[in-house]
Amino acid sequence: MKAIQLHAPASLDNLKLVDLPDPAAPGPGEIVVRLRASSLNYHDYAVVKGMLPTADKRIPMSDGAGEVTAVGEGVSDFVVGDLVVSTFFPEWMDGAPPEGGFTRVPGDGIDGYAVEQAVGLVTSWTKAPKGYSAAEAATLTCAGLTAWRALFVDGCVKPGDSVLVQGTGGVSIFALQFAKAAGATVIATSSSNEKLERLKELGADHLINYKEVEAWGAKVLELTGGKGVDCVVEIGGPGTLDQSMMATRIGGHVALIGVLTGFSGPVQTALLMAKNLRVQGLTVGSRAQQIDMIAAIEANGLKPILDQHFPLANLADAFRHQESGKHFGKIVVDI
Ligand SMILES: NC(=O)c1ccc[n+]([C@@H]2O[C@H](COP(=O)([O-])OP(=O)(O)OC[C@H]3O[C@@H](n4cnc5c(N)ncnc54)[C@H](OP(=O)(O)O)[C@@H]3O)[C@@H](O)[C@H]2O)c1
Repeated sequence: MKAIQLHAPASLDNLKLVDLPDPAAPGPGEIVVRLRASSLNYHDYAVVKGMLPTADKRIPMSDGAGEVTAVGEGVSDFVVGDLVVSTFFPEWMDGAPPEGGFTRVPGDGIDGYAVEQAVGLVTSWTKAPKGYSAAEAATLTCAGLTAWRALFVDGCVKPGDSVLVQGTGGVSIFALQFAKAAGATVIATSSSNEKLERLKELGADHLINYKEVEAWGAKVLELTGGKGVDCVVEIGGPGTLDQSMMATRIGGHVALIGVLTGFSGPVQTALLMAKNLRVQGLTVGSRAQQIDMIAAIEANGLKPILDQHFPLANLADAFRHQESGKHFGKIVVDI
């Protein structure tokens, strides 16, 4: 079978198309999946660029979707032919986040899904939403679930609440779609006026170009009558957190998700305290949360926004496209 491996030292030029032996027959509790699609996340980009260290010859990509081709003894959740989608933390079933960081995350601590076939425990997968293609399903593992957890598990967003989403990457567009489906008002930002128009078509109620309006936190306050939003989906990190806290209502929630502006920086602790904010870091979510998200997707027919498709062999080009910042929503890899 074909796969892409990341050879040391990590770089886009060291993503190599290789032939590997087909997986063995599934053991008890295992399934074999014929992968059909994956999708790009910033996390995958950080791995293939060497920003996050990984083993030589690691198969990248945390997200995978495809059909079950064999089931092992004792497997009753899936049958051959089911379309399934991978989980980000294969061992996090439910409850509190597991220890160990990314050491057991596909495409980082263990091999991922830039590969034609994978064998593994049935609990590393969930069913894909009914009516989804493999490409659509492959967007859910990381970006979809992160947005879901930020809004509804940690952020507790309700109909009538207001939500701020930042930029037009995978997490943020899912957050916009989920928040609108839940009856929230959404303020969306982007560096591009053209992309802002597309966000409007997706239901964003208010738009801010964060390059043109540097004090966008104050602009959010203005748009909310001085109150601030109930929940911010914060994907920038140190370069955006101050503005995000400014934009949040007293007692509101900041879901601290991203590292797009770096990994550390000063925090306005007095502002955080004075506004009684809850700033919660999060890493994706559990399998149980993924199952809940998929039930909600099926209930309202939500479909992800797909950007360009790339064949597996051109994975490096897919990352170059992501690097360019031209994408809107999820970049997909067809396997
Ligand atoms: N903690 C977690 O569990 C978790 C899970 C998923 C992702 N993340 C993190 O969340 C971030 C986004 O991930 P992703 O996969 O959605 O990325 P992505 O698809 O590559 O999206 C990146 C987009 O973010 C926007 N952006 C860049 N710099 C920005 C800034 N300073 N302010 C506002 N928007 C900015 C840009 O949108 P415009 O072109 O519209 O400006 C860009 O297209 C990354 O840092 C990633 O590591 C964390």
